[in-house]
Amino acid sequence: MELSTQKLIHTFGALADLGQEIAGRGDFTEMVRTSMHLLLGTLALRRGAVAECIDQGELRCVALWGLEPRLFTGFSIEESDKDQFLHGDASDFLLSNPTTTNSLLNRHRDRFTEHEIELVLPMIVRGEVTGLVLLGGKASGEEFSNADFDTIKAMVRHIGVGIHTHRLLEQVAQRAEENRRLYEELRAIYRDTVRAFAAAIDIKDKYTQGHSERVGRYSEIIAREMGWSEQEVEGIQIAGYLHDIGKLIVDRDIINAPYHIDAKRSSDLNRHPAAGYEILSPINHPYADIPLMAKYHHERLDGRGYPDGLTDEQIPLGAKIVALADSFDAMTTDRPYRRRRSFEDVVRDLRENSGKQFDGKVVAAFARAILKEVNGEAKKRPITKMLGKSYLEGENVAGLLTDLIADLMAAPQATVTPIKRITSAGSE
Ligand SMILES: [Fe+2]
Repeated sequence: MELSTQKLIHTFGALADLGQEIAGRGDFTEMVRTSMHLLLGTLALRRGAVAECIDQGELRCVALWGLEPRLFTGFSIEESDKDQFLHGDASDFLLSNPTTTNSLLNRHRDRFTEHEIELVLPMIVRGEVTGLVLLGGKASGEEFSNADFDTIKAMVRHIGVGIHTHRLLEQVAQRAEENRRLYEELRAIYRDTVRAFAAAIDIKDKYTQGHSERVGRYSEIIAREMGWSEQEVEGIQIAGYLHDIGKLIVDRDIINAPYHIDAKRSSDLNRHPAAGYEILSPINHPYADIPLMAKYHHERLDGRGYPDGLTDEQIPLGAKIVALADSFDAMTTDRPYRRRRSFEDVVRDLRENSGKQFDGKVVAAFARAILKEVNGEAKKRPITKMLGKSYLEGENVAGLLTDLIADLMAAPQATVTPIKRITSAGSE
């Protein structure tokens, strides 16, 4: 095979390798370094460097072989240099060319001579100089031929495209990061606004201070225990905060009645889930089904809840979670007409009403979350904190929870025929 054919094949091979290198590498600096070595190896060059243009014509060295980094100290590229690079011929970039008019070469001739640089080539992508490739002479001592120039120009162009693509990707990543931060900020604002709303709902009801906040926290804990994604967990926390928002339209005297209310007042109060749905529906929430969770947080599996008397399968799981969180908080906080119930009593209620009022799977998940705190297996103890330290300190608390979980897991969900609707007992 002729020497020129061999060289051609070798050059094609190198270009193919270079293309693969640029397309495949995740590590930018490593990609440029390997690309430069391919270029040096293809033409048997002694030394070389690749530098990219950064702000104000400053050059940043990305790869270096056989040269010292001080080569780039105080070295920059000016706008007029860029014009000459864009319109110049390859021979203009050759230090040995005595007639070169390239101002950058002439300005830094001493520097290049000291470091034995023979060729300074621009990397041009889409009509812009993105950097420079500096090359030393051939190891054989031969002059650069026209074919060498063509090879070098092709490879330098490849490297330039690699650098340009990397920059674009960096910009895209930066924009994505900015968008992500903005989205996080908006979510935080949304959450804070919702919490402020929750506080406003609770202020109207002087006996249930902090109720909505606690229902949000309990709902979050149950959903996480049931394996919901973090996005869904955040959503149900919001639903918990807002579940009683419909109370804003109920007369303050009815909400604050210090005794069990009569049927008329009760029916007024029972409008609050549907009213909550009306308030929340027009809002574009970043989470799914929040209005429905508010609407159905007083539904029961046996169909005796309100507003629609739905049964088990018809009630969204989120609403079942909020319903349990709501009732649990009602049972474990004091009211003007009664003290809160003992934990033993609450567990008895949950056991008796699983399959009727509550979904057994949801109750079991909540019991597991409480048990983890009682057994010291949880990193944080939000439930203990909300209930007060002493509430879960009874000797048999762990036993009660363990038995409840075992029984709920063993028993199939009770299916109860709807009888008649009842009013809001054991929940807010
Ligand atoms: Fe409610």
